[in-house]
Amino acid sequence: PQNIFILGIESSCDDTAAAVLHNGRILSNVVATQEIHQKYGGVVPELASRAHQQNIVPVIHEALSRAGISKNELSAIAFTRGPGLMGSLLVGTSFAKSLSLGLKIPLLDVNHMQAHILAHFIEEKEFEKPHFPFLALTISGGHTQIVKVTNYFEMEVIGETLDDAVGEAFDKSAKILGLPYPGGPLVDKYAQKGDPKAFPFPKPKVEGLNFSFSGLKTSILYFIQKQVKEDPKFIEDNIEDICASIQHTIIGVLMDKLKKAVKQTGIKQIAIAGGVSANSGIRQTLKEAETKYHWKTFVPKFEYTTDNAAMIAIAGHYKYISEDFADMGVTAKARIKM
Ligand code: KG4
Ligand code: ZN
Repeated sequence: PQNIFILGIESSCDDTAAAVLHNGRILSNVVATQEIHQKYGGVVPELASRAHQQNIVPVIHEALSRAGISKNELSAIAFTRGPGLMGSLLVGTSFAKSLSLGLKIPLLDVNHMQAHILAHFIEEKEFEKPHFPFLALTISGGHTQIVKVTNYFEMEVIGETLDDAVGEAFDKSAKILGLPYPGGPLVDKYAQKGDPKAFPFPKPKVEGLNFSFSGLKTSILYFIQKQVKEDPKFIEDNIEDICASIQHTIIGVLMDKLKKAVKQTGIKQIAIAGGVSANSGIRQTLKEAETKYHWKTFVPKFEYTTDNAAMIAIAGHYKYISEDFADMGVTAKARIKM
């Protein structure tokens, strides 16, 4: 097959996204971010699905128009089946099914977490792709996993969080500091100017390759409450150092587990994926690991870190090649295994 045009549709959480891929190369990648959730300090599922309803047609139109192709040229429709918020997933799933039926082209169901990892296979000139097998650290607002990736769709979770995801650890810490949602990018911004060793926070003790972040959040909360009692301007005066210290602790936890996973599997190729892989500290630490530990590390382009449809389209592209099509009976699933 020489001319594969895949339309990818992503609607698992609060971003409505569509992308068009030609033979694995991006023609367009459109995301409509929902601002409405900011004032609630988190994603409100009911509001998210309503916004997806409003955004999905214009976003798909925009993706096709920026790609410069008509819907009749599409080879197949790829959509996020899960995991995610049911009401949000239903919008993309139903729309993808209707479009595939109307255009009489195949439907491809995609696992959102696999797609975050497969984003590394989007054709980009200056970007090198990982070789199988490699380890993927998926770090987002909903997930924290170490995955052994043996092939495009052969993935095994070898470690995961027992409570909060890394993104939640960032967002909840940010909330304690009075920063708006989602606070992860703001913690990153302040951290760049702060001293990472200013305030040592205890690293959680968890066996094996699993993670736990809820204890860290609690110790940050108690620390901040205590300091603010003594000095009401503590946060304001130390925001950069506090953020740098929180980020340093989180990165330390991730690196400890990665080192363990490398030792256990003998695999030294590491790819990061998911919203938190946009974090500048994580990106830098991982690049440094190339010389420090002789790993080969893969960091995605910024636009493929947070939720997007390009990653759904590339996952669809590989499913299309292996003719792994979904039938009309396929349903959205809030929880799916890797
Ligand atoms: O993958 P994603 O867009 O959505 C989920 O599937 O969860 O990830 C969103 C998460 C949020 O928790 C957000 O705060 C975090 O990624 N995030 C960051 C940064 N950019 C996004 N966390 C730390 N530093 C960043 N630069
Ligand atoms: Zn995601």
